[in-house]
Amino acid sequence: MLCPRRESFLPEGLFAMGGLLTAYGRRTGALRHCRIIQLPRITDPRGNLTFIESCRHIPFAIERVYYLYDVPGGAERGAHAHRRLQQFLIAMSGSFDVVLDDGFRRRRFHLNRSYYGLYICPMVWRYLDNFSTGAVCLVLASEPYEESDYIRDYAEFLRLVREGEDAGAVS
Ligand code: TYD
Repeated sequence: MLCPRRESFLPEGLFAMGGLLTAYGRRTGALRHCRIIQLPRITDPRGNLTFIESCRHIPFAIERVYYLYDVPGGAERGAHAHRRLQQFLIAMSGSFDVVLDDGFRRRRFHLNRSYYGLYICPMVWRYLDNFSTGAVCLVLASEPYEESDYIRDYAEFLRLVREGEDAGAVS
């Protein structure tokens, strides 16, 4: 299922182009589309409740759910980018950091609340570190698992982003 509002979140061509040319002629990357999203929160003395609906609270339809847990101290996960996949990461328990890099800029996010999540659009290199003891990272994903969607080599990622930049510059 596609979200009707998907195009408003991701400009046409983002999947092919890592770099976009703004109205001011300054090159920017996909990182500008990644952001923290606050989720609905029903507070209750019996315990709080948060819910997520596809395309309403996050800008894609959920096709897959997975989670990282029992992460040993000092471990790092991720270190790859995705060609098409969109993801939404939540610290369901504990905390961890997510570092995002679009080939132009790099930004570190700290996740430590189960009613906030980080939206990651395609063509963004990411790694996760600084996991607290007992941290659980829930990942909502827009596509089923597909190894060919991964870019696991950073040099290859940068090459693809630069190619996109060149394509954007001539169009
Ligand atoms: P990977 O995405 O590389 O983990 P991370 O980025 O957190 O280090 O996945 C690790 C392994 O798990 C890899 O062999 C692929 C497999 N895997 C699946 O089979 N299905 C999935 O949905 C995911 C996310 C991973």
